[in-house]
Amino acid sequence: MTLESTPDSVVSETAIVPGDEWWRSAVIYQIYPRSFADSTGDGVGDLPGITKRLPALAQLGVDAIWLSPFFRSPQKDAGYDVSDYTDVDPLFGTLDDFDRLLETAHSLGLRVIADMVPNHTSDQHRWFQEALAAPEGSPERDRYMFRDGKGPNGDLPPNNWESVFGGSMWDRVINPDGTPGQWYLHIFDKSQPDLNWENPWVREQFFDVLRFWLDRGVDGFRVDVAHGMIKKAGLPDYTPPAEGASMGGTGTASADEDDSAHSITDADTVLAPVIGDPEPAPEPPYWGQEGVHDIWRGWHEVLAEYPGDRVLCAEAWVDPLEKVALWVRPDEMSQAFNFAYMFTDWKASALKRVITESIDAFGGVGAPATWVLSNHDVVRHASRLALTADSPQGAGIGPLSPGKPDPVVGLRRARAATSLMLALPGSAYLYQGEELGLPEDMELPDDARQDPTWFRTNGEKYGRDGCRVPIPWESDKPAYGFNASGKSWLPQPKDWAPFARDAQEGVPGSTLTLYTDALRLRREHSLGTGDLSWVSGYGKKVVAFRNRDVLVLANLGKVAVELPVGDILLSSEDITGGALPTDTTVWIQL
Ligand code: NOJ
Repeated sequence: MTLESTPDSVVSETAIVPGDEWWRSAVIYQIYPRSFADSTGDGVGDLPGITKRLPALAQLGVDAIWLSPFFRSPQKDAGYDVSDYTDVDPLFGTLDDFDRLLETAHSLGLRVIADMVPNHTSDQHRWFQEALAAPEGSPERDRYMFRDGKGPNGDLPPNNWESVFGGSMWDRVINPDGTPGQWYLHIFDKSQPDLNWENPWVREQFFDVLRFWLDRGVDGFRVDVAHGMIKKAGLPDYTPPAEGASMGGTGTASADEDDSAHSITDADTVLAPVIGDPEPAPEPPYWGQEGVHDIWRGWHEVLAEYPGDRVLCAEAWVDPLEKVALWVRPDEMSQAFNFAYMFTDWKASALKRVITESIDAFGGVGAPATWVLSNHDVVRHASRLALTADSPQGAGIGPLSPGKPDPVVGLRRARAATSLMLALPGSAYLYQGEELGLPEDMELPDDARQDPTWFRTNGEKYGRDGCRVPIPWESDKPAYGFNASGKSWLPQPKDWAPFARDAQEGVPGSTLTLYTDALRLRREHSLGTGDLSWVSGYGKKVVAFRNRDVLVLANLGKVAVELPVGDILLSSEDITGGALPTDTTVWIQL
């Protein structure tokens, strides 16, 4: 499928009206380059593969793409371990390939957001190699978080912090003369040493990196671990609450509310907490420290040097939403991922509450609310929304996981959830493959796994590979059209042909058609720049709101609800007989 570019679809760089920036209402599609499209047949996706498939995304109707990292990297954490921030990894292509991708995207009216990874580098980065070769206390060492160990011989780590991927956050180096040396901090894998962002030299390096990509024409950056770059002074010990607070929550989806319908009042939106404990756990000394905000003010200024309207999006896993909003104050970043929304249980009361809180929190600082249901770090929502209490989502799902989600229930809820999300005002993020209704791959064999989480927890946690499997394009082609060779860096399930794009294109009722229709209608009715007002009278299991001239009803209860008279613009399931069935969302023309 091709889409011709028209003057209207070309990304323009005209003057910006404050408050009218494109990203305030944009739908941004996340591409995970390894798994999107592979032009070489080596089994790993690449930039030319992406460029070739961009017309399909323009056809889908998204406004922008966010590319997970494609920079030079030993790929210990799938590219989130960067060894050169200003070059493309040969696995993905060349800088020329990137320029072609950017030009093609812009000609199709798609903005391009790169993924910047400033909290840590790869241990193969020249900066770290120079630090290892330099003496203790040297300026090179001060680029990273080196500390002496505890104990008489310094052979205990400097504190008790545990890596997000499992094990200690510290590893000890061997000095050039073979003796054991200092320890360095790594919030993630040992191959991802944390930079010392208190050091002005580090800040200067990243200004140059940002300008390198802005000069090439990128429309902004998603910023990895934007909440972790400054650590609490003195690096005090910290013991997290029982279930990890960083790479995802532990929420489960259950529609176990009382079925009795009642009229909605304001009180319905202020029910149980959405994520976290009623008593928030103490703030980890490596997340959300006040000092990070100064970094973002500096980045904001760099982006402001450029024409057009460039975006900074924070990956900030902090709780509650009022705190996330601190990242998007007018002189900091533009938007932040809404992980509270992502991890909300499939319950009407919880959804209403998190939506209200999100609009209030982000709106309170003049930023758009954002919405997201899936990404490369969490169980795909077509599976997650049918999880039971037995299977915590943050740890991944594998062959031996208890409480595997029902795929039919999961897909139905995912379609309803996305239909609800795309009707909300603000900006929404989609993750590649969700428009096909892809479930989590829960049967990946152990020997195929690549996520460091799997290795660092000795297989106790499956990790994130199940949402990263290369996506299917053509039902009857090798690797479902991911490439021509049939190779795939993670094996694809045998039963994915019906999910392939070509099996769904133009097919009434397919998930691809649902997404395409929702995106078109969202644009036609200007829902992204609209306002939400809650609507009463549909019972407490229904999320009911109005945005501009559209009434949105999502029935999360077990019993069907009578539909009002009106033209149905969009429905996540076939509707017959004037009733809204369970796990279904409709948009009705007012
Ligand atoms: C968050 C990224 O989304 C994740 O994939 C990565 O492993 C960590 N940050 C470390 O960079």
